[in-house]
Amino acid sequence: MDLIIRHATLPDGRRDVDIGIRDGRFAAIRPALEASAAEEIDAQGRLVCPPFVDAHFHMDATLSLGLPRLNASGTLLEGIVLWGELKPQLTIDALIARAMAYCDMAVAQGLLAIRSHVDVCDDRLLAVEALLEVKRRVAPYLHLELVAFPQDGLLRSPSAKANLIRALDMGVDVVGGIPHFERTMADGAASIRWLCELAAERGLRVDMHCDESDDPLSRHIETLAAETQRIGLQGRVTGSHLTSMHSMDNYYVSKLIPLIAEAGVHAIANPLINITLQGRHDTYPKRRGMTRVPELLATGVNVAFGHDCAMDPWYGMGSGDMLDVAHMGLHVAQMTSTAGVAQCFDAVTANPARVLGLEGYGIAEGHPADLVLLQAGDAYEAIRLRAARLLVLRGGRVLARAPERAAALQLPGRPARVSLEFRPGSIA
Ligand code: FE2
Repeated sequence: MDLIIRHATLPDGRRDVDIGIRDGRFAAIRPALEASAAEEIDAQGRLVCPPFVDAHFHMDATLSLGLPRLNASGTLLEGIVLWGELKPQLTIDALIARAMAYCDMAVAQGLLAIRSHVDVCDDRLLAVEALLEVKRRVAPYLHLELVAFPQDGLLRSPSAKANLIRALDMGVDVVGGIPHFERTMADGAASIRWLCELAAERGLRVDMHCDESDDPLSRHIETLAAETQRIGLQGRVTGSHLTSMHSMDNYYVSKLIPLIAEAGVHAIANPLINITLQGRHDTYPKRRGMTRVPELLATGVNVAFGHDCAMDPWYGMGSGDMLDVAHMGLHVAQMTSTAGVAQCFDAVTANPARVLGLEGYGIAEGHPADLVLLQAGDAYEAIRLRAARLLVLRGGRVLARAPERAAALQLPGRPARVSLEFRPGSIA
């Protein structure tokens, strides 16, 4: 073996497991593995999990906080206006620099797959060009896929349709949309039909911002699920945000969720953003605004948690830590049971991997040796502590490793958060 990690705990609860890695893949996963390796690491019972996956992010806006000004109201709509003010000032070099900096942060946190929306409503398509270049640069160590996202509305913005097609022609992977931002409910439905048909023609997946409002009568996820079935896109379509479902009539939701499940539409909640942007028109009580995660899961819908934003016009916080996202998600959704916490861990690992359709994901013999060793005894503790990442591997290669001294200083039951040494230059 090239590397053996001994005495690991796995996310499914298996304990004291040895993980043998050879030629970049998991070669053997079993207790008391009888083999030797060039390097052995004693996990001492700590959790080894597959890499974190973020199925919903905006890498074109990330780390732009304060440019050209701060979001005074903190609302979604001021964020969109602010992004509109920043767009004319964007340069390819600055977009690439910010995105690369975020990717460094992500990798150090064990986040090795990101689906990022990229705004196609700037006729220059600078952000598309920049993020395609970032995708190429990070490919050796991070799976980055892009969604053509008409931020200003597919029908509302005059050049959005043509730009979206140009973006796909340039190599963007997924068809995006924003039906609730179109001028009317009818326009929203028309945009969904057009986008789903375009995706079917090109054999692409769909991921739309959908019903990102507190409007209990917003109905775009219903249309998206129905179109998915009509066109035969089952398993390839995702509804992102779905916050209006929080406020919908309960009887209607009892009909809606089975429709989403039958259509095989994936759902993405973005807890950090939903809890801060939704309910802004409320006095008290203020709605949480996140979609109905436990109910969707109970009906068989695949639900992932996304990071959505980090230090951008919509959200000044965020660090690329998907355990922060899971932590917020379980609080907002009140998923505090043992099973609920486990589901929240899945919502930032296995579930988003299904959204992206990642092949060979997970710690299993024959799969690429991608993993994260955490300063935690299990998934529950990992979320509770937002545990330090001690080791990040991709294809058996070390991408990030906690300094020995910091790891040695951990007190039992009180792991401090340590910064990891990560030098992109050394792995390119
Ligand atoms: Fe988003």
